Amino acid sequence: WWDHVAPAPKDPITSVTEAFLADTSPTKINLGVGAYRDDEGKPVVLQCVREAEARIAGCDFLGIGRESVSSAVSSKLVEESVKLVYGKNSDIIKEGRFAGVQALSGTGACRLFAEFQRRFYPGSQIFMTDPTWSNHHNIWRDAFVPERTFQYYHPDSKGLNFPALMDDVKNAPDGSFFLLHPCAHNPTGVDPTEEQWREISYLFKVKNHFPFFDMAYQGFASGDLDRDAQSIRIFVEDGNLIGCAQSFAKNMGLYGHRVGCLKYVHILDYILSVLCNDAKQAAAIKSQLQQIARAMYSSPPVHGILLVSGILSDPNMKALWVEEVKVMANRIQSLRTTLRKSLEQLSSSLNWEHITNQVGMFCFSGLTPEQVDRLQRGFHIYMTLDGRMSMAGVTTGNVSYLANAIHEVTKF
Ligand code: LMR
Repeated sequence: WWDHVAPAPKDPITSVTEAFLADTSPTKINLGVGAYRDDEGKPVVLQCVREAEARIAGCDFLGIGRESVSSAVSSKLVEESVKLVYGKNSDIIKEGRFAGVQALSGTGACRLFAEFQRRFYPGSQIFMTDPTWSNHHNIWRDAFVPERTFQYYHPDSKGLNFPALMDDVKNAPDGSFFLLHPCAHNPTGVDPTEEQWREISYLFKVKNHFPFFDMAYQGFASGDLDRDAQSIRIFVEDGNLIGCAQSFAKNMGLYGHRVGCLKYVHILDYILSVLCNDAKQAAAIKSQLQQIARAMYSSPPVHGILLVSGILSDPNMKALWVEEVKVMANRIQSLRTTLRKSLEQLSSSLNWEHITNQVGMFCFSGLTPEQVDRLQRGFHIYMTLDGRMSMAGVTTGNVSYLANAIHEVTKF
């Protein structure tokens, strides 16, 4: 029956974790997966999450847990999440002009949207930044939505290729779907400036394009949740309708639930929201999204939703979370500075400014696949083959070892 089934190609991100876990070297470093680690290299359970856990422990939520999440809890979570992205006083919330549903992690939210796109705009395509998160390709492919790319990254400057981006947005057929990263672009760590976002948003409005934002790292670019949502708010102010996948997997540290195997698994915590013209349209869209989810996995898990809604709806817990996000973002930022300085002190002849110019969890180092391979074989340092380093894996304890190793593989 299954003789014709060949092994699937390895996933470029999870295979790095697998290789790292199989390595027994005490000096190994994992710069692969974009998941937050503390300065000891350990996954973090945030204090606000511990408190939320304590509050729900022993409550009569298990009854809900065994069935599906109550729609009151779910609506609360969706509303609080929508406030985080669009701003707490946004008219969109007051007027109910959004359709929001809970989804299974980032992949799940994007997958729901891709399915929704194919169902209601059959034959449409999705434009993705070149490069983008590797799983974006899989998600839209499996939803049978053809992919196109638009220029984004400039390999020489290791920054944004803004003129080329604008050209591609302009030359795309009117009314195209675009997948955008609102902050902390994955994998490059390169974000447009506020002014550039304004120009992009204006062009989208003129071209009647539909922007779909994958918000996976809110808080990690600047340490400020509002500032990191600025790009989306600009689009909304300009009157663009938008879609948004929103994650708490990284900024609340809720990804690390390993379920019986070595690969890490997101627990949930993505919200998918689609901005609509009016409340009636919002209700229709929500019902369609719910129907797609019902056929795919019926209903999402309940535990994480109770944690997230507990944190977001309690002002003290939310304030604690906001502080904890800052701490995580600042740790990454300070390690960027140290890594760059260390490389400069080693008299590297290369320019490492991009380490501090880029933002968020990732540094798109510019290392070649051969250099990445040498780092892995010779120094037990793991990252994806495209040279993306998850800066969360860098610590005060390993940064000079890392700088020395990078210097070794890049010097002529
Ligand atoms: C990453 O890019 O490393 C993260 O988004 C985690 C993942 O699931 O790929």
